[in-house]
Amino acid sequence: MMTRGHKMKTIFCEFLDSQDKNGTITIKPLGTAKNGVSKPMLPGWKDVVTEIVIDKAYTDGLDGIEDYSHVIVVYWMDKEEECHLKHHPQGREEVSFIGIFACRCPQRPSRIALSTVELLSREGNTIKVKGLDIVNSTPILDVKPYTPQYDKVEKAKVPEWVDKLVF
Ligand SMILES: C[S@@+](CC[C@H](N)C(=O)[O-])C[C@H]1O[C@@H](n2cnc3c(N)ncnc32)[C@H](O)[C@@H]1O
Repeated sequence: MMTRGHKMKTIFCEFLDSQDKNGTITIKPLGTAKNGVSKPMLPGWKDVVTEIVIDKAYTDGLDGIEDYSHVIVVYWMDKEEECHLKHHPQGREEVSFIGIFACRCPQRPSRIALSTVELLSREGNTIKVKGLDIVNSTPILDVKPYTPQYDKVEKAKVPEWVDKLVF
């Protein structure tokens, strides 16, 4: 196990998150999304190119990301104003009435989103990605490389109603 006293080179940085004594977690955004989409929409994200500009203090944290084809972007859906416990996904009555944790809709108690997308480039503190379902100026919480060893699932089971949704 590595400790702060070890001899290998490490660049430390500040946490962006914290938890108070009541258990409330506070997270400062790591960065911001920049694209031409001004409000939430469904569908139409496939060809949207987005720049993710991260706080300059964390630029070195992107070193090495260029070697991946895909990244997982974690973001906060700041423009979502409704919180649902159960609903018809995408407001479609013909789709099952299901719990919010059984779908990927934005009307969640924690407005955290996670999308796996193609990485086009990295320049300094900015990465460019394609197909990210994100509105301009959305706060970015984290960027992780898509890593099949963690993320790939063989033979995943998905309910049939998912095929009725638009992506
Ligand atoms: C269905 S959610 C899924 C997000 C992510 N792929 C996930 O599964 O966690 C994606 C939708 O959220 C909406 N959205 C994107 N950015 C948003 C924001 N900042 N505030 C509210 N809604 C947002 C868009 O309309 C988009 O179609």
